[in-house]
Amino acid sequence: MHKSIKLELDMGDELFSQLKTLEQEILLQDEKLYKKTWAWNVFLGWYDVENILSQEELQKIKATAEYFQRFEKVIVIGIGGSYLWAKALLEALKPNFWDEKIIFAWFQLDSSYLKDLLKYLAKKDYGIVVISKSGTTLEPALTFRMLLQDLYSKYSKQEVSKRVVAITDKNKWILKDLATKNGFETFVIPDDVWWRYSVFTPVWLLPIAIAWYDIEKMLLWAKDMQQHIDENKDIFKNPAYLYAGVRNILLNNEKNIEILATFEKKLSFLSEWWKQLFGESEGKDGKWIFPASLNYSTDLHSMWQFVQDGSRNLFETFLIVENESVKLEIPFLENDEDNLNFISGKTLKFINHSALNWTIQAHREWWVPIIKIIIPEINEYYLGQLLYFFQRACWVSAYLLWVNPFNQPGVESYKKYMMECIKK
Ligand code: PA5
Repeated sequence: MHKSIKLELDMGDELFSQLKTLEQEILLQDEKLYKKTWAWNVFLGWYDVENILSQEELQKIKATAEYFQRFEKVIVIGIGGSYLWAKALLEALKPNFWDEKIIFAWFQLDSSYLKDLLKYLAKKDYGIVVISKSGTTLEPALTFRMLLQDLYSKYSKQEVSKRVVAITDKNKWILKDLATKNGFETFVIPDDVWWRYSVFTPVWLLPIAIAWYDIEKMLLWAKDMQQHIDENKDIFKNPAYLYAGVRNILLNNEKNIEILATFEKKLSFLSEWWKQLFGESEGKDGKWIFPASLNYSTDLHSMWQFVQDGSRNLFETFLIVENESVKLEIPFLENDEDNLNFISGKTLKFINHSALNWTIQAHREWWVPIIKIIIPEINEYYLGQLLYFFQRACWVSAYLLWVNPFNQPGVESYKKYMMECIKK
């Protein structure tokens, strides 16, 4: 394995012995994963990265992606687990101010958003990837209806059939049926992969491949992390289980809000995916760590006060990027009109890192427990690792709380209630 992401904690004797005690419990859960003896193990299809997709399926994804690359824009329609990781990954990898090929149209019942999108697409040559495991979620279904109507107003039936791909569950008939009747290409989300764990399936592989990233490499890299976790039974050498363990201990000490904080702009959307993963997996049966996020240094100017001096039931997990891949030096000015020559010659990364260290030190002084997740750099390799790391940590963490990570009864009741209300 190459370099790996690292986890650092403020490890005192007390935390060390609590973790040592919890290690047994975690390993018990870990064993159940391999032996598949858990009540909810029917949804463990995501766990073994290598076996999620067949070679044939991978080749089909690559071929479809290549075809879709010819369009000026590709609209990816989906919500929750059906878009968050793909968007987080693209946000992290793409250059800033990039005129993106992929537009995510998903999330809200906001008429101005959809109207503006249709206006924007009026003169664009575009295709659609619609993603919904259930095939019935209202927000993406309505967006799809309107965009499909737009495509049919512009092209023949045969042409539209080449511009739409549907990714759904093989047994959920509405979207599958609609796709078959209209002659759209379809991809299946495997039965044993739960929504928010569906990242290594066509759900994100197709959008990412359309954006020209190497999905085969990403899968191999996530596999590296899986192997690292599988092989290290010592909790102190296993970042995913160490993270799950320390969160559990903090919760038992009444720290029930976790802030995922980063000083890296490119990682800011990743916290949206992370919030869904942990929030929907753990927040049930009256047990919870509330997942929140802050983007520094921007939020130092709005939330610093609260973190430092507000309620004391929170802890902070920092996503830190170690290497300086972009070097930008502060210039020296002859007249020094702005009095900033004292930092000339320093890089922005150095200053950003100093702000990070200061923030950590200040928050520690105010009894905010700190966890550091350190990735060497932002690239496909470490993001693949990070993704698997969080999934595996979340799974074991939910089991430590004795909740089923593979359901979301609250979300389902919202969907049902909403349908009933609008039918009236
Ligand atoms: O992750 C989840 O469980 C949910 O947030 C779903 O992803 C979301 O509701 C979208 O569901 P679907 O893919 O069925 O449209």
